[in-house]
Amino acid sequence: MILISNATKSYGSDFKAVDNLSLEIRDGEIFGFIGPNGAGKTTTIKMMTGITGFDTGNITINNIDITKEPIEAKKQFGFVPDSPDMFLRLKGVEYLNFMADIYDVPKDLRDTRIIDLAEKFGMSDALTDTIQSYSHGMRQKIVLMGALVHEPKVWILDEPMTGLDPKSSFLLKEMMREHSRKGNAVFFSTHVLEVAEKLCDRIGIINKGKLIFNGTMEELRNKFEPGDSLEKIFLEMTKGE
Ligand SMILES: Nc1ncnc2c1ncn2[C@@H]1O[C@H](COP(=O)(O)OP(=O)(O)O)[C@@H](O)[C@H]1O
Ligand SMILES: [Mg+2]
Repeated sequence: MILISNATKSYGSDFKAVDNLSLEIRDGEIFGFIGPNGAGKTTTIKMMTGITGFDTGNITINNIDITKEPIEAKKQFGFVPDSPDMFLRLKGVEYLNFMADIYDVPKDLRDTRIIDLAEKFGMSDALTDTIQSYSHGMRQKIVLMGALVHEPKVWILDEPMTGLDPKSSFLLKEMMREHSRKGNAVFFSTHVLEVAEKLCDRIGIINKGKLIFNGTMEELRNKFEPGDSLEKIFLEMTKGE
């Protein structure tokens, strides 16, 4: 479970990238965090994951405060950032072992998990190549695999579908469903409402740092005319004052 209470993050003296945000992501649900570019999605995720501090409010992951007990809180989740361009000099397999080291995954367990994940994502042959040589989609996959190698309870994914080919995107969505079915919380951001509609139990819409909707897709649709497209709904919800 992720609990965000009245969290605000400013850049500079008077710009609030995230403005008094409160959200609850329950165990067993897929929560989609939706908003246009610059809305505050990544900033929120950086706050949740302890990458950046914030001015006011509290955030807990499985009841552990990310500010007060950052290491314990970080053990609760796997995180996929919006850009997968990192550790480029490492080979895929070195990166996965590095992640497994950080999270103390025992040798025999990690080997089976790495083999299994590589097979699922069609990355078995690429593991001995450097991440530098990977395409964007392959980098996205290796980062995802690294986030899953310690089998975290909570998943936090920043625009995870971007750059994935249809097969991997489908696989990831299936994995998200399976993970939530097992009683875990899955949080992901997207600017594509269509993805959210098919996948999410609940969504939150953020615009200019403020949460402007929190509920199910059905509740969102009920605010609009029956025939309205998701595109129209999204544009209406996130248009300026
Ligand atoms: N390090 C930073 N310094 C100053 N402003 C920032 C910084 N990071 C993000 N912002 C601003 O905060 C707002 C929210 O950005 P972000 O959370 O990345 O949005 P999203 O992920 O929804 O596209 C944007 O206006 C962005 O320009
Ligand atoms: Mg972002």
